[in-house]
Amino acid sequence: MAHETVGKILYDYDQITARAKELAEEISKKYEGEELIVIGTLKGSVMWMSELLKYLTVDTAIDFIRASSYGSSTTSSGVVKISMDTEMNLYHKNVLVVEDIVDTGTTLTYLLKKLQDRNPKSLEVCTMLDKPSRRTTGFQADYIGFEVDDLFIIGFGLDFDQKFRNLPYISYLQD
Ligand code: PRP
Repeated sequence: MAHETVGKILYDYDQITARAKELAEEISKKYEGEELIVIGTLKGSVMWMSELLKYLTVDTAIDFIRASSYGSSTTSSGVVKISMDTEMNLYHKNVLVVEDIVDTGTTLTYLLKKLQDRNPKSLEVCTMLDKPSRRTTGFQADYIGFEVDDLFIIGFGLDFDQKFRNLPYISYLQD
C-alpha cells in the first residue's frame, strides 16, 4: 500500500444524504413520541451521524463511544477495546448506535453486548455501510445505508492510517 490512491466514487454526497434522510425518516417513525439517544462510534461514524441527525424528528440526545479493533493496517487485529466510553446513563432509554461500516461484525458484537448490559429500553444499530462478504459473526444491523463489496473503503469518515476521513464521498483504496 505504499502508493495507494483514491479509487472511483462509489457514493457521492447527494446519494449519502438522500439515504441518510430515508433512514432517519424510518427511525423517526419507529420512535415517534419517544426519546432517543444516538451513540456515534468514533471516529468513523462522525460524518454519517451528522447527516442522520439532521433528519431525525424525535427528541434526540447524542453521545459517543470509541471501540477500536484495527491498528494502522488494512486488516483487523480481531481485538476490540473500549477506549472512550459514553457519558449518558442508558438505563431504560432508546439507544441507536451509529456506525460507519460493519465488516467482520466483531466490533459491534462486542459493543452491543457491553451496551445491553446497561439495560437500555431498546438497542438498535444504523450503519452507513455493510460489507457482508467479510462477516465472521452473525451480526446484522437494523438499518443499512449501502452494501459494499470487499474493497478497502475510505471517505465520509472512513480512513486508511487516519487519512481520507474528510473526503465528502465514499471511495476505496487502489494500488
Ligand atoms: C472500523 C469501523 C468499525 C469496525 C468494523 O473501526 O469504524 O467500527 O472497524 O470492523 P469489524 O466489523 O470487522 O469489527 P476502527 O477500529 O478502524 O476505528 P475508526 O472508526 O476510528 O476508524
